[in-house]
Amino acid sequence: MINCDISIARKFIQDDEYLKARKKADTALDHLKNKTGPGSEWLGWRDLLADPNDAELEKIGSLGEEIRAKADVFIVCGIGGSYLGAKAVIDALSPHFGSNGPEILYAGHHIGGKYLEQLLNYLKQPKENGEPKRIYVNVISKSGSTLETALAFRMLRELLEEMYGEGASEHIICTTSKEGGLLNKLIEQKGYRKFIIPDNVGGRYSVLTPVGLLPIAVAGIDIRTLFYGAVSAYNSYEENAEDLLEYAALRNAIHESGKTIDVFATFEPELTSLGGWIQQLLGESEGKEGKGIFPTVATFSTDLHSIGQFIQQGKRSLMETFIIVEKPFSKLQVNKLEGNDDELNYLAGKSFHEINTKAREGTTEAHSEGDVPIVRVSLPALNEENIGQLIYFFELLTGIFVYSLEVNPFNQPGVEDYKKAMYRLLGK
Ligand code: PA5
Repeated sequence: MINCDISIARKFIQDDEYLKARKKADTALDHLKNKTGPGSEWLGWRDLLADPNDAELEKIGSLGEEIRAKADVFIVCGIGGSYLGAKAVIDALSPHFGSNGPEILYAGHHIGGKYLEQLLNYLKQPKENGEPKRIYVNVISKSGSTLETALAFRMLRELLEEMYGEGASEHIICTTSKEGGLLNKLIEQKGYRKFIIPDNVGGRYSVLTPVGLLPIAVAGIDIRTLFYGAVSAYNSYEENAEDLLEYAALRNAIHESGKTIDVFATFEPELTSLGGWIQQLLGESEGKEGKGIFPTVATFSTDLHSIGQFIQQGKRSLMETFIIVEKPFSKLQVNKLEGNDDELNYLAGKSFHEINTKAREGTTEAHSEGDVPIVRVSLPALNEENIGQLIYFFELLTGIFVYSLEVNPFNQPGVEDYKKAMYRLLGK
């Protein structure tokens, strides 16, 4: 199970402040369990773990297999909650270089013309053997009308129609709401295959629905183990959510103390995208009504050579959450070098995991002495089960913490403002 250690950060908070925040966390958890808080119609991310739909997992898994067998390139076309969860899991559990399945690419997550143009050109280029690439697109949009996604999908669709003619619809899978939205109209017209995003699950809570699970399955990751990892976390926290209540209370007390930034930092580069998912989950949930701790992401030790200086000595407005993997994934070791001309023989025989662990322990010591409260969230190992557990851990933390701020964790009214201004400027 996920281990959450708040002991370092707890020293920064007085007992009475902590106890006040703890009461709020307890009330918040009751709201989640009894569906009595604002936005309780969006608690489907809990329901789907309480009552797993094995048939749906099976269906997604077998389409994932089919696409893995047929595709050279699989494009995840979505933005925000419609792609960040899939990317987080795929990056965490796939090799850094090379893969034995289709190349996974992303589109529709911004409006950068250079990126899209180069993507389209890349897709048009034949393979080394001269044959055209076999391309599959999964367009993911709950509303079915998000501009970034819709625009990229229009361009991709045109390309697929050019390449495969009538057969293009075989290469397109849509993940959207049951009804409504422009994407559903297209599905009807063109006969695309479709997966449904449950009405009661919001975008950033949807990684364990077809939104995240289909791309994750195409990447060759065992979605059943991932999903049931989350189910085990759900069952365990229904019994006893002490760790999460403590963490949420602490974060709330830190919020009250005036700290405004939480740096989600990992020493494992493959977890950087997971940080991006946590950032969206918390940021879009808590950042309302002038409240919230701004979640940001860092990869150490890389970023210790950039924002590390600020964290150590800049404005004291920060806390940190370290995402830690206990069991080494790699056994890579430092060899003893004849002559020791780079003077690194003092590390000979040590694994990179051991050296990285010392870097983390040293950073923990330095940053906490520099007045930065640190929370440590650890996975026993990097695998499907633990990542599934971690997903639910952060979803539940978000629900508890944001309800403790007396904010609705499940809407995002502020996101509409840029859209309104942009559409006006575009003459929509
Ligand atoms: O969490 C959310 O609800 C948002 O980040 C959405 O996922 C994002 O705006 C994309 O929306 P849609 O899936 O409707 O295209």
